[in-house]
Amino acid sequence: MSVETNKKFGVYLHVPFCVRRCDYCAFATWTDREHLIDEYLDACRAQARTASTNLPDITSVFIGGGTPNLVPADALMSIFRELPIAPAAEFTVECNPDLVDRQQMETYVAAGVNRVSLGVQSMVPHVLKSLGRDHNPHNVYEAVEIIREAGIAHLNLDLIYGAKGESILDWTTSVESALALRPEHLSTYALTVEPGTALAEDRDRHPEDDDQADKYLLANDLISSAGLANYEISNWAQPGEHCQHNMLYWTQGEYLGLGVAAHSHLAQRRFWSMRTPERFIKAITEGSSVEAGAEELDPDAWALEGRQLAIRTSEGVLEEFVSDEVQHLTESSEVAGKVKLTVEGRLLANEVSIRLQ
Ligand SMILES: C[S@@+](CC[C@H](N)C(=O)[O-])C[C@H]1O[C@@H](n2cnc3c(N)ncnc32)[C@H](O)[C@@H]1O
Ligand code: SF4
Repeated sequence: MSVETNKKFGVYLHVPFCVRRCDYCAFATWTDREHLIDEYLDACRAQARTASTNLPDITSVFIGGGTPNLVPADALMSIFRELPIAPAAEFTVECNPDLVDRQQMETYVAAGVNRVSLGVQSMVPHVLKSLGRDHNPHNVYEAVEIIREAGIAHLNLDLIYGAKGESILDWTTSVESALALRPEHLSTYALTVEPGTALAEDRDRHPEDDDQADKYLLANDLISSAGLANYEISNWAQPGEHCQHNMLYWTQGEYLGLGVAAHSHLAQRRFWSMRTPERFIKAITEGSSVEAGAEELDPDAWALEGRQLAIRTSEGVLEEFVSDEVQHLTESSEVAGKVKLTVEGRLLANEVSIRLQ
């Protein structure tokens, strides 16, 4: 069913399997459930088939994880044959560099994938080790070659800054090496200590605020000079290369989440699915609901949330919403009457956000 042809609508699929858990990661993923992969993908396919009877045309697909490129590419792609995907849709798969291979990429491209988001994190071996990553920079070079040869025109690289032992020079190397790969899009994330992770247990490896602020400013200079513009605090893109799917999250757009721990926003209602693959498979098999929780915001809360998201983007918010005490952290955006965060303001985004009126 096609509702409105110009309306944007996204689908997210969560793949909750990894080879091993990185020390900083708190995402919904398992390293000891490989035996469930086939059943899980079957359950997601069934979920997609049921949902497809009542969906608008899908303008963006994002397969995230976990490690989507750990599971069989054919089975993963077959899920999307169930869905009404618009011909020009953005179609992203998140990939771990050491698991990229030619056959897999060709299968993705044949199924319509046109964007890959690669979890690079660092281009310096000792920093990767400090983050608890398995791959090395050589894996990244090989992966990018395979991705490009398969015809993927839109590439994002994820980097993390602030690992223990990462010098300013190391971070410069990571950003410059990433830019040398000519990605259309680059995301840099401040290493965050998530409760329950190996990193949380190891105080000696916790990041320092000043170091992360210096690294953010440095990254912004290097990335902007290479022609990628900042359009959300952690995201830079070449012209026309913004991630359409993530833009839906930042503009309160609508999307359907498939699989475990996936969030949906449909008809003013937000809801999310259960977290464990076992329970998800059982619920789908029995034909019962996979919903674990839901929320509906009242109009005021909805409007405030919209401003809190918008201030993190380069579009910004109407000037009248920014309180006087933090106006010095904002500047005019390209949209008339709106202001966005200055680069220093981006470091203090939460301070500005909690003072929005
Ligand atoms: C959902 S993760 C999965 C990506 C993929 N499995 C990988 O690791 O390459 C997406 C991105 O979130 C970022 N990330 C995850 N945990 C983080 C943390 N604790 N602090 C900062 N960035 C984090 C990483 O850059 C990662 O590439
Ligand atoms: S960072 Fe990626 S590879 Fe590492 S545990 Fe998290 S989802 Fe898996």
